[in-house]
Amino acid sequence: MSRAPDFAEIRRERPADADAIRALLLAAFPTPAEADLVAALRADGDLVLGLVAEGGDGLAGYVGFSRASVAGRPALALAPLAVADGRRIEGVGSRLVRAGIRELETGFSGPLVVLGDPIWYGRFGFAPAAGLVCRWSSPHLLAMTIGAPAAAAAGDLVYARAFDAL
Ligand SMILES: CC(C)(COP(=O)(O)OP(=O)(O)OC[C@H]1O[C@@H](n2cnc3c(N)ncnc32)[C@H](O)[C@@H]1OP(=O)(O)O)[C@@H](O)C(=O)NCCC(=O)NCCS
Repeated sequence: MSRAPDFAEIRRERPADADAIRALLLAAFPTPAEADLVAALRADGDLVLGLVAEGGDGLAGYVGFSRASVAGRPALALAPLAVADGRRIEGVGSRLVRAGIRELETGFSGPLVVLGDPIWYGRFGFAPAAGLVCRWSSPHLLAMTIGAPAAAAAGDLVYARAFDAL
């Protein structure tokens, strides 16, 4: 089957991808914070799922999901999400988020949180999480439920330890 030149395959990250993921994150964000975050999450064993979009010249995008908790119960956090500058507005970011949610649905039930644009993330089912309490509480703190329907997530949101450095 032929593929368009801009095809991007979504797959789980592998150890050999670490340098390319770091380079992508360093280029996508103004500071190394997100690149360092992913490295620390991996080292701590808190990175539950990392997906890369591969295609064209190297990595087109990356999304990471890490362990968190809400009111002492298991939750997940989406961060970071980045698409390479030359590959934006092609749907790569949306595909990474949707593929991640699909994969998480197979083994997890509970809240998934993200800090981001409510309109952009609203397309995946995220909504402002006014009941979540953390140092990033704001209209940009969003949540959706993965798996069985549940009451809106509420209570203290605790991110994985690596987020302490942000
Ligand atoms: C945000 C980001 C991941 C989007 O990736 P992408 O592959 O370009 O997004 P998609 O192509 O899937 O989505 C395109 C849609 O989002 C919109 N969009 C893209 N970037 C946007 C932005 N920064 N703010 C608001 N809307 C945006 C597009 O207009 C388009 O809308 P449409 O589908 O209604 O036409 C990418 O711009 C990026 O890596 N930015 C730098 C890092 C960053 O800010 N990450 C997000 C942290 S929460």
